[in-house]
Amino acid sequence: MSVLMRRARLDDLEPIMALERATFANDAWSEAMMRAEIEGEHGYYLVAVDDEADDAGERLMGYAGLYAPAGTGDADVQTIAVAPATRGIGLGRGFMHALITHARRIHVARVFLEVRADNPIAKSLYDSLGFVEIGVRKGYYQPDGVDAIAMRLDVPEAVTRPASPTPQSRRPAPGTATTPARGIRSSTPGGAA
Ligand SMILES: CC(C)(COP(=O)(O)OP(=O)(O)OC[C@H]1O[C@@H](n2cnc3c(N)ncnc32)[C@H](O)[C@@H]1OP(=O)(O)O)[C@@H](O)C(=O)NCCC(=O)NCCS
Repeated sequence: MSVLMRRARLDDLEPIMALERATFANDAWSEAMMRAEIEGEHGYYLVAVDDEADDAGERLMGYAGLYAPAGTGDADVQTIAVAPATRGIGLGRGFMHALITHARRIHVARVFLEVRADNPIAKSLYDSLGFVEIGVRKGYYQPDGVDAIAMRLDVPEAVTRPASPTPQSRRPAPGTATTPARGIRSSTPGGAA
């Protein structure tokens, strides 16, 4: 297995729809809606694929999308789904980080989303990323009549920085490194090394 995350294309639509229908039984989007989202000018849709799988249906591991109308400073996480066989290994978090990174890159200040009140797994993912609850829409998800919890993230500054060069004075002098170079093994009791 080799995971590749990339922008969604129209030739991903069929496997995306298969996962969409399997995941969101009662509130799946139609193919026309999904197509419009992927093609839309303000959409940013990603897929994760197993780059070593032969069959397109088996290749798709998940998808996620952001809607970010230009110039508003706001964006919405429209959807996120990870295939059941590949849940729990960090793909959902990876998608969310990628969407938030894109939001930051296009100067979005606030990202919104809605999550079903009966979806503690997704809610815990969003909580852990810093999303806060801003309201509840009673009975929003139909026909199930489940509440939607609306959440907002104030997009944080990037925490990664270019590596700063180690000051010359803090570098060990040649030949005085405390960590043995690779290939040089220190001897151990019993002489196994
Ligand atoms: C929600 C979903 C996208 C998460 O994707 P995932 O790849 O399984 O998630 P990750 O492995 O990246 O885990 C991210 C976090 O989700 C939560 N989580 C994931 N699996 C969990 C589980 N079995 N139980 C509780 N929390 C869980 C945890 O907070 C986890 O963070 P941690 O690993 O630091 O504890 C996935 O479960 C899914 O596709 N669900 C069905 C569709 C859906 O509910 N979409 C959201 C609509 S709002």
